[in-house]
Amino acid sequence: MGLADAMRLITRRLEGAFTLLAVDAREPRTVVGARRNSPLVIGLGEGENFLGSDVVAFIEHTRTALELHQDEVVEITPDRVTITDMKGLVVEREPYHVDWDASAAQKGGFSTFMEKEIHDQPTAVADTLRGRIDDRGRLQLDGGIIHETVLNSIDKIIVVACGTAAYAGLVGRYAIEHWCRIPVEVELAHEFRYRDPVVGVRTLVVAISQSGETMDTIMAVRHAQQQGAPVIAIVNTQGSTIAREADAVLYTRAGPEIAVASTKAFLAQITAVYLLGIYLAELRGNKFPDEIESLLEQLDAIPSKIQRVLDTSEPIRELARTMANERTVLFLGRHVGYPVALEGALKLKELAYIHAEGFAAGELKHGPIALVEEGQPVFIVLPSPRGRESLHAKVISNVQEVRARGARTFVIAEEGDTDAANYAEQVFYVPSAPVLMTPLLSVVPLQIFALELAAAKGYDVDQPRNLAKSVTVE
Ligand code: AGP
Repeated sequence: MGLADAMRLITRRLEGAFTLLAVDAREPRTVVGARRNSPLVIGLGEGENFLGSDVVAFIEHTRTALELHQDEVVEITPDRVTITDMKGLVVEREPYHVDWDASAAQKGGFSTFMEKEIHDQPTAVADTLRGRIDDRGRLQLDGGIIHETVLNSIDKIIVVACGTAAYAGLVGRYAIEHWCRIPVEVELAHEFRYRDPVVGVRTLVVAISQSGETMDTIMAVRHAQQQGAPVIAIVNTQGSTIAREADAVLYTRAGPEIAVASTKAFLAQITAVYLLGIYLAELRGNKFPDEIESLLEQLDAIPSKIQRVLDTSEPIRELARTMANERTVLFLGRHVGYPVALEGALKLKELAYIHAEGFAAGELKHGPIALVEEGQPVFIVLPSPRGRESLHAKVISNVQEVRARGARTFVIAEEGDTDAANYAEQVFYVPSAPVLMTPLLSVVPLQIFALELAAAKGYDVDQPRNLAKSVTVE
């Protein structure tokens, strides 16, 4: 029996998630591999071939890769790659070109991948936007299609994701509901299928994942598809499981995100969700072409505004370095500022191992305000004071509530909001932007705060304790 036959025999008997590789000592130039619910990707070189869990493993040798699907076996030698199915039948598959190079996976002169990736954010947003909308105003998906008739018939959207990706979905919900008038639920992927969700052919499920290999999200996608729902994947990793199994894909083009804590992928995910919302609004006639044009112009202006936040980040870095001994930090926000508060808290937990919690600011008086004591640091994401519907006054009132109880108040506010300084110990200004797009700016100071505080504590900001870049087990 050949090694590939033996691998097929074994994998047929295995349960659960695995990636297996095997070499026969009698044929050391042949490697055989198999995978199920766990990543394995093939690199095609000149006189050499590679197997790895991610293209980063061989990107410096080749940028031509090949997907290995569930329960397939691959046999590689230096000059041949053969993929077979469980019956041993050869599977023909087109390779794909990895659109970034090894230097993108290096630190680019920054001291950590985390610092580099925070600074990559203007490019990540710009690249995710580039070339997306054709001259008819139609979104260009990257893979697969969901017919316009299907998209016109949907009556509900459910976003499934985990962690930071879920917070990107929470931001996107405000935009899609406002632009498209379609109800949007955001459900943690690991909760989704156990709640017996109401999902059907008129439910569009949007799976958001940087790695495309998060098992909780993979299983949520499969559950949704079993219920007949069309699934669009918003992922950052080409050829990943979620990208492959979804009915359509909208890649975030953030480039490789090496640091475990997600930053540039988060902004790219929000951008991609906005693009999806704009596309649906145009398709379903909720927005006129000139309104679509205006939204896209507003988005195009965001990368340079992110750069301005990065260029003025020294004050929040200085603050972070003074707070290395803090034991708990609270984050407050309303409307689109609420998911920003959640993400700011998650970054601080992940990187500095400090207890941090994000709240909807209006929730304070329903309990969390009991947490506030003298000297308690509280970050508040303050909406713009502009506009009739502004929530500025309400959030200022929340700032006053915590300040009156001794909290140290640090406010993220829009440039020109001089009122903020009357209520905050320190204000960190970001450029103005349309309300729904402000998270792309207001989260950046919070990312930098978490990074700088963790670094001040001497922690490894690229590989925080207990965490993996991709959670490939349920
Ligand atoms: C983000 O900083 C975390 N590392 C984590 O919450 C992550 O967003 C989550 O595990 C989802 O990962 P994915 O985007 O690869 O699916």
